[in-house]
Amino acid sequence: MIEIKNLTKVYKLTKKQMAEQKTKDNIKKAADHISLSAKKGEIYGLLGPNGAGKTTTLRCVATLLKPTDGEITVCGYDTVKEPEKVRESISFLTNEIKLDPQFSARYMFDFFGRLHGMDVKAIDKRRELLFDYFGIHDFQDKKIDELSTGMRQKASIAVSLVHDPEVVIFDEPTNGLDIVTARSVTDYLKLLKEEGKLIIVSTHIMSEAEKLCDRIGIIINGRKVTDGTLTEILQETKSKDLEDAFFELYKAYGKEEA
Ligand SMILES: Nc1ncnc2c1ncn2[C@@H]1O[C@H](COP(=O)(O)OP(=O)(O)OP(=O)(O)O)[C@@H](O)[C@H]1O
Ligand SMILES: [Mg+2]
Repeated sequence: MIEIKNLTKVYKLTKKQMAEQKTKDNIKKAADHISLSAKKGEIYGLLGPNGAGKTTTLRCVATLLKPTDGEITVCGYDTVKEPEKVRESISFLTNEIKLDPQFSARYMFDFFGRLHGMDVKAIDKRRELLFDYFGIHDFQDKKIDELSTGMRQKASIAVSLVHDPEVVIFDEPTNGLDIVTARSVTDYLKLLKEEGKLIIVSTHIMSEAEKLCDRIGIIINGRKVTDGTLTEILQETKSKDLEDAFFELYKAYGKEEA
């Protein structure tokens, strides 16, 4: 359902970015020949340190960035040749995309529902279901600006799922959330998986990847250094938990920029 073949994404850096990143190179290879596939009914986790290339990869899958090289298909549609088809089948959530602070969760939900071509009845039904699950009813008419981080994240998640997409692409969905709110988000992702959806998430939280993901791809310096089930990764690295496995892989592949 998601097929990434040799994804390479190169950013051209401005002088300011070069100074910030303390580099003399004016290009940054954020994704370097990444290949992976994820299928319906599974949660695939992209795990990697800061700057590994997780967000870049997910943005390419979500059609927000064009790969420099390589190909990605989502539900059989090419992300560059048929981006509209891809967008119809996905939900994309990232820290950088924010709901408009001036509007309420309810307004944004209905707005995106209409944008997806849904009729009023269908929108009402979805709103009822999602606002119920995430406990949004109580603050549905408050401005996004007035909400706490947790409320805002829950509202963003609900809005991103209005059209009941087949593929859910969430970039660090529990970032900044307390454990109760984080658990309600990860539990919902499990529910979606049981409904047969494909979920791809990024995280740098080892315990979250261990508990939530059916398969994990570890990305270091733009490269996928391994992927598999937790058991497979532990066997491959002769480690007792994911954190140990990660450090084994980091020792082997993380040196260049360490
Ligand atoms: N628009 C951009 N222009 C230039 N460089 C960028 C741009 N976006 C990301 N980068 C660089 O590309 C690399 C990968 O970034 P990316 O955001 O994909 O990493 P990440 O794994 O999501 O990290 P984090 O855990 O911090 O979210 C980093 O070195 C980052 O500085
Ligand atoms: Mg990121």
